Amino acid sequence: MQYHFADRIARAPASFLEELFRVSSDPTIISFAGGLPSSALIDTEGIARATREVMEEEPQVALQYTTTDGYLPLREFIADRYRHRLGVPATADEIQIVNGSQQCLDLFAKLFLNTGDHVGMERPGYLGAIEAFSLYEPVIDTVPLEEDGPDLNAFERLVKKTQVKFFYGIPNSQNPSGRTYSQEKRKAIAEILESSGTVFYEDDAFGELFFDAQPRLPVKRRVPDQAVISGSFSKTVAPGMRIGWMYAPSGILAKFNVVKQAADLHSNFLCQKILHRYLTTHDLDANIRKIVAAYGRKCRLMCELFDDLMPQLTHTRPEGGMFLMATLPAGLSSRRVFDEGVKNKVAVLPGLPFYVDGGGTDTLRLNFSSASDEQIAEGMQRLARVIASLR
Ligand SMILES: Cc1ncc(COP(=O)(O)O)c(C=O)c1O
Repeated sequence: MQYHFADRIARAPASFLEELFRVSSDPTIISFAGGLPSSALIDTEGIARATREVMEEEPQVALQYTTTDGYLPLREFIADRYRHRLGVPATADEIQIVNGSQQCLDLFAKLFLNTGDHVGMERPGYLGAIEAFSLYEPVIDTVPLEEDGPDLNAFERLVKKTQVKFFYGIPNSQNPSGRTYSQEKRKAIAEILESSGTVFYEDDAFGELFFDAQPRLPVKRRVPDQAVISGSFSKTVAPGMRIGWMYAPSGILAKFNVVKQAADLHSNFLCQKILHRYLTTHDLDANIRKIVAAYGRKCRLMCELFDDLMPQLTHTRPEGGMFLMATLPAGLSSRRVFDEGVKNKVAVLPGLPFYVDGGGTDTLRLNFSSASDEQIAEGMQRLARVIASLR
């Protein structure tokens, strides 16, 4: 049978996932290639208690259909947290609940992009966004991501000359690089945006995961009507609940809501109720403190082992999040490191899929959140041996 798929499917980037699945299903391989939060830090008991309470007290409500925008008390919780944590005057009306912040990427692209439209993002950029946007057949223009944020000249050119519909960025502990925008660059980006028609899409998957527990202020604070923020409980509570949100000005959110309704009517209401019960009966900040203490320790360990065992590589030094990026010495390809690594029971992710232009062949993304400290120590020894053998 020959299937006649839509043309847009051909635009979707080739997926590396199959190989990754093979790697992650082999328990003898230490994998830094995936992107999972630590399972050990999910409060399974607290979530089980919240689930029992919801099912005992209001099962018929929680198992019924609901409105598209999401459970109002949960949206109020999110808006309240923006006001208190970041001093941003968010209201529940500006929050739409979604199925993990990944859904925002799809719905936002569906809302804004016609075939051939220009969209901007960082180079390297988040693979999940490249995949989601590609299905709407835009031209993806990239801006080099420097140590402290996007190259401002390139960003200004892109926004003013190419007139991208929106620019997608991850100012806090970016995936894949682990980089964080400086306050100066956030201010400069807001100033450049102000004289353009470009919307800034801040993906804030990691904003609560700074190792120093200090919040960084979003670009949206300076350009409230020209920026949206996507957020998620995946990294602070549990990714399997699939609860995230879009925080956007009403002029965007009303239309976003139409697109969301057409896609799935609403996000899983039972999970929204359980999550809200959990958040109001447990100390989220205490949970986050545990997570950032563990991730900070694991990140420092990985960086030290790079410096001690593989001084010929350079790597980023994240202030938060779950990933860092390493650059190989000249002449060594990340694909070879991946293939040899798997043979030697350590997996790292080649950077290639994060570059829409086919670059980054000398880069690796490493996840430090899911492996134990012992696995990090052993896995980095294995990686060092692989790299030494390829030189
Ligand atoms: C930068 C970034 N954005 C969005 C997501 C999607 O997360 P979720 O859909 O679980 O909120 C991820 C997942 O790791 C991510 O790294």
